[in-house]
Amino acid sequence: MADPDRARSRRTLMRWVDKRFPASRLWQHHLSRYYVPKNLNVWYVFGSLALLVLANQLLTGIWLTMSYTPTAEGAFASIEYIMRDVNYGWLIRYLHSTGASAFFVVIYLHMFRGLLYGSYKAPRELIWLFGMALYLALMAEAFMGYLLPWGQMSYWGAQVIISLFSAIPGIGPDLAQWIRGDYLVSGVTLNRFFALHVVALPIGILGLVALHLVALHEVGSNNPDGIEIKARTDAQGKPLDGIPFHPYYTVKDLVGVAVFLCVFCTVVFYFPEGGGYFLESPNFAPANALETPAHIAPVWYFTPFYAMLRAVTFDLLGLDSTFWGVVTMGLAIAILFVLPWLDRSPVRSMRYKGRVSRIMLTVFVGAFVTLGVLGTMPPTGVRTVIAQVCTGVYFAFFLAMPFYTRLEATRPVPDRVTGR
Ligand code: HEM
Repeated sequence: MADPDRARSRRTLMRWVDKRFPASRLWQHHLSRYYVPKNLNVWYVFGSLALLVLANQLLTGIWLTMSYTPTAEGAFASIEYIMRDVNYGWLIRYLHSTGASAFFVVIYLHMFRGLLYGSYKAPRELIWLFGMALYLALMAEAFMGYLLPWGQMSYWGAQVIISLFSAIPGIGPDLAQWIRGDYLVSGVTLNRFFALHVVALPIGILGLVALHLVALHEVGSNNPDGIEIKARTDAQGKPLDGIPFHPYYTVKDLVGVAVFLCVFCTVVFYFPEGGGYFLESPNFAPANALETPAHIAPVWYFTPFYAMLRAVTFDLLGLDSTFWGVVTMGLAIAILFVLPWLDRSPVRSMRYKGRVSRIMLTVFVGAFVTLGVLGTMPPTGVRTVIAQVCTGVYFAFFLAMPFYTRLEATRPVPDRVTGR
């Protein structure tokens, strides 16, 4: 039984706090009286999982920084020291390195859910735009983090990607040198990447997550039916198809967290290298500016874009293929920003869209995954042709969207959520 004295002192404490800080109001506004559609399915767990993985990266990152040396002379050895001598250093490092891959698995599924249920459509455009800014920041964060172990792949991966900037006409070579801070990737580059990786980008990411969630709570979550639950409310103004986020979705998300942790811990403890995809084998040798690894490929989450870069093999308008490859890669990401304005369908969810939208989304996902696989392999004639076709499919999905979403027949959307 609850102790009445304890309950009374808790109420007194809360009154004291509430007079000085809106703790109860925030709790109610964002949790206990924040109404969420009652039909959210498993696709909706990835937002919470992204928060969990972000917390894991921040915590393990802080602990790694305590023993890491950000110099060209000391970086590789300090990682070995963390792995062998620091208490549980191996665990902290594997949680961080596997966490990076887990982050991208979760984020790609989170973005796919957006495509599936039209969550980017009005009035949720800003949630999507803040999400895209987060995606860019996460890519920069992961790229810079990968240089820090100062292994062969860290070094040559950074060398290849930074030198892509040299392909920009006129300013390119100077820009690449400015990013490196040197004529080639060196300790100077390592130092600035370290500063950006541990301070600047995490602050930016946390700020963007706050903006993402404030925008989400302003308009409320979409749902698998794509129905606006605020349109039907009871006499007190509560959405008829809404339930409080806490305790209903906190409990539901905990189930997702438990399943995720089982899979994540299995990888961390038994397959931390992920078959060479999470930690690439050349990275177990220290960086050597005089010896290039036989095959340089970025980590798996960048490979779809890397495959697009390599798919452009022809010069155009007097500019070389590398330049056009960089432009293609940039456009592939940029086009995601304008997605909310490309989809002209009268309905949000794929459940009620027409057959063309469904086929296009399926083919798009197939092309993106194929590009990802091709990006991990050395290029051959046939692979380059497949990558070119998939790059075409990738862009066709977006560029043809204003037409097929407007012209296709859609199915009638029910008035209330279906509970499926
Ligand atoms: C650090 C990265 C991110 C975190 C921590 C995060 C977190 C969240 C959370 C907690 C939610 C609410 C729960 C849910 O609907 O799943 C959400 C919703 C959403 N997020 Fe993210 N997100 C991140 C990145 C992204 C990215 C990269 C995109 C897409 C470009 C995105 C697009 C969306 C959209 C459209 C919604 C609303 C979904 C709906 O209501 O149907 N997010 N996010």
